[in-house]
Amino acid sequence: MTERATESDLGNVFVSNYPPYSRWNPDQVPALQEVLGEAPGPNPPDLGLYLHIPFCRKRCKFCYFRVYTDKNSKEVERYLNGLAREIELYAAQPALAGRPLHFVYFGGGTPSFISPKQLRGLVVRMKDAFSWSEVDEVAFECEPGTLTEAKVRAIKDIGVTRLSLGLENMNDAILRENGRAHTTKEIHRCMPWIRDVNFHQVNVDLIAGMLGETWDLWRDTVQQTIDLDPDSITVYQMELPYNTVYAKKILGDEDDAPLFSSWQTRRDWHAYAFEQFAAAGFEPSSAYTVKKKGRGARFVYRDALWRGADMMATGVSSFGHLQGVHYQNTSSWDVYLEALEAGSFPIDRALATSPRERLIRETILQLKLGHLDPVYFRDKFGVELTDEFGPAFGKLERDSMATVDSDTIRLTPQGLLQVDSLLPEFYEPANRGVAYV
Ligand SMILES: C[S@@+](CC[C@H](N)C(=O)[O-])C[C@H]1O[C@@H](n2cnc3c(N)ncnc32)[C@H](O)[C@@H]1O
Ligand code: SF4
Repeated sequence: MTERATESDLGNVFVSNYPPYSRWNPDQVPALQEVLGEAPGPNPPDLGLYLHIPFCRKRCKFCYFRVYTDKNSKEVERYLNGLAREIELYAAQPALAGRPLHFVYFGGGTPSFISPKQLRGLVVRMKDAFSWSEVDEVAFECEPGTLTEAKVRAIKDIGVTRLSLGLENMNDAILRENGRAHTTKEIHRCMPWIRDVNFHQVNVDLIAGMLGETWDLWRDTVQQTIDLDPDSITVYQMELPYNTVYAKKILGDEDDAPLFSSWQTRRDWHAYAFEQFAAAGFEPSSAYTVKKKGRGARFVYRDALWRGADMMATGVSSFGHLQGVHYQNTSSWDVYLEALEAGSFPIDRALATSPRERLIRETILQLKLGHLDPVYFRDKFGVELTDEFGPAFGKLERDSMATVDSDTIRLTPQGLLQVDSLLPEFYEPANRGVAYV
């Protein structure tokens, strides 16, 4: 069923952090500088590196990420040079010097937008700055139409273990309508190249509820995705944050507002996809991801982040976390590059978290896996989850969203399908109802 989208449908539902980003502020940037200036204790958490590659061939009408579609090759070069400098700057900080990387995530935007030569040049500087000898995972996001056979080989050669391909849908009319740059032909063209070089793991992304979606077309997308035989599949429910082309259209001209499926239909499509994937030999690994049984697919970046790992954020607008301090880089291209070219960090806002905030953060993020392990929380935080969050778990149980006892806390299938909307129950009162970003 489709509905005319209204203002109440807009905004972020997907929860990726806590406390909400709107609480982070420039006054707390010195807290991060303090952390960077001190050597870490004897057993620092695992360390990761996120790189934001903000270039795309075209801006998708639903996309809320910081991306540019108008940068020429000289500007791309300048950006990649800034990114390498930023990594070198981190490597010189007492908190990070000499620490090996455990995971690397090339996100975007579209990391596969850059050329094999640019990628190799960047990685040489990254490996000079930080040891990769203990890296468990190197993840790399790709848009199908940007791949060539030589590029896929370069991605493999630099050490990528998890390649993630943004399929989104397997119907060309829907891809076009939603502003995607790629076609299904390009998906079929790149899959053999990807298979040939044998990545440890190939993930594909789908979105349930793109504009123009129907039950018949979605069934076909799900089947075609199974036929591609990926190691894992991630299904997002379509969101319409305020900075998307669609949201602006909905706010600007109600008569011409696009018709989107209801949240219930998006959830039904998500549930249907997970059922079909289960029948095809996949098992859920979180609310959004299924993995093929027996292939050992993991997602180190997700699991490390949801267990409080340190992660340096590099690139315009990217988010990071070091020793309990959250931070975000500036979202301005000029400010970002000028800061790095002058030898300083381009950080805009930060938040030093309290122990309670760190407990809530891990609880809600790990709940997105579908279950919580009370022993982990006992060992790490010295708390009993059911005592700490009695009212929130009580409500989940009453609403049939979870089953709770002292050994396991498990979301029901319907809880898992709407997990993000359940998480604010766990927030401190001051963080409820505030803007998320
Ligand atoms: C950075 S993109 C992946 C790489 C590449 N840029 C691409 O799109 O092919 C990350 C993923 O976020 C998801 N995404 C983007 N905007 C979304 C939205 N408004 N609602 C739900 N998922 C969205 C898409 O599935 C997309 O593959
Ligand atoms: S969804 Fe991916 S390809 Fe589309 S604009 Fe966003 S980052 Fe770029």
